[in-house]
Amino acid sequence: MTTTSKPSFTSGRAIQDESTQRPRVNVTGAIPERVRASLAADFELADSVEGVDGILALLPTRVDDELIGRAGRQLRIVANYGVGVDNIDLEAARSRGIVVANTPDVLTKATAEQAIALTLALLRRVAEGDRFLRRGAEWRFSVEFMLGESLDGKTVAIVGPGRIGRETARLAEAHGAAVLFVGRGDSLHDALRVADVVSLHVPATAATRHLIDADALAAMKSTAVLVNTARGTIVDEAALVEALRSGRIAGAALDVFEFEPHVSAGLLELENVVLTPHLGSATRETREAMGLLAASALRSLLIDGVVPPNVVT
Ligand code: 8YV
Repeated sequence: MTTTSKPSFTSGRAIQDESTQRPRVNVTGAIPERVRASLAADFELADSVEGVDGILALLPTRVDDELIGRAGRQLRIVANYGVGVDNIDLEAARSRGIVVANTPDVLTKATAEQAIALTLALLRRVAEGDRFLRRGAEWRFSVEFMLGESLDGKTVAIVGPGRIGRETARLAEAHGAAVLFVGRGDSLHDALRVADVVSLHVPATAATRHLIDADALAAMKSTAVLVNTARGTIVDEAALVEALRSGRIAGAALDVFEFEPHVSAGLLELENVVLTPHLGSATRETREAMGLLAASALRSLLIDGVVPPNVVT
């Protein structure tokens, strides 16, 4: 490496770095080291939200009116470490002119992969078989032992044909399934009546709360399964437990929970349920990409003075 004693003032960034007035950013939880290092290169990282210019918010942090108020009037941007922004009071942010950014696209493939992984694990009884062996149960190969279902030839209803829904559809089709998209203008119940797999990909809003309730579950085929990698509040979890217990539907694969991180006890007792702890985007590459995208939104607004493209308000 060559060194030079000449000061480098060639970019706005360099000037900013050498000033003592670097924008202040609070990160609300633990993040990958690479993302932290990227932030630390441009920002002063603050231990709390008081007095910061930007917040990098993790999913468990509720960015509500109180937190925004506590941060102070200089707060200009909340960058969410995720694509879903239901942890943020968008109205409170909007009314104070605060930009809210999220992390679309970079997690599409990982989340769709998790939806398919859960679907296959449920249909092919992967987790159930694993639990069976770990219990030390006696077994020998038998032609009709622990039979599952193939995704090949099934009909998958994709509820919410956005980026993740469309990618999940592509992967389902690659496994030989037929896809039925359910958008805002479509009848959910018509799709529920014919689907073998119902995969949820809508955001959590007031309109989608309990979209899958007792009536929706009653509309599903008794052989059908429900897959949720979106948000827990979309499903009435008590009604789901009841539908699974009574055999109203055949199974459920869930990555998200209505009262997250709490998981309803009824779900834990059932063999026809596969559970993962909100791992939709949880690959090393994806979580880093999400963090770097959120960091670039902070940099764009607070250093370059440009509203980033990945803005939701
Ligand atoms: C993240 C998610 O794991 O992006 C989302 O909306 O739910 C997940 O991809 C989560 O937001 C991490 O903070």
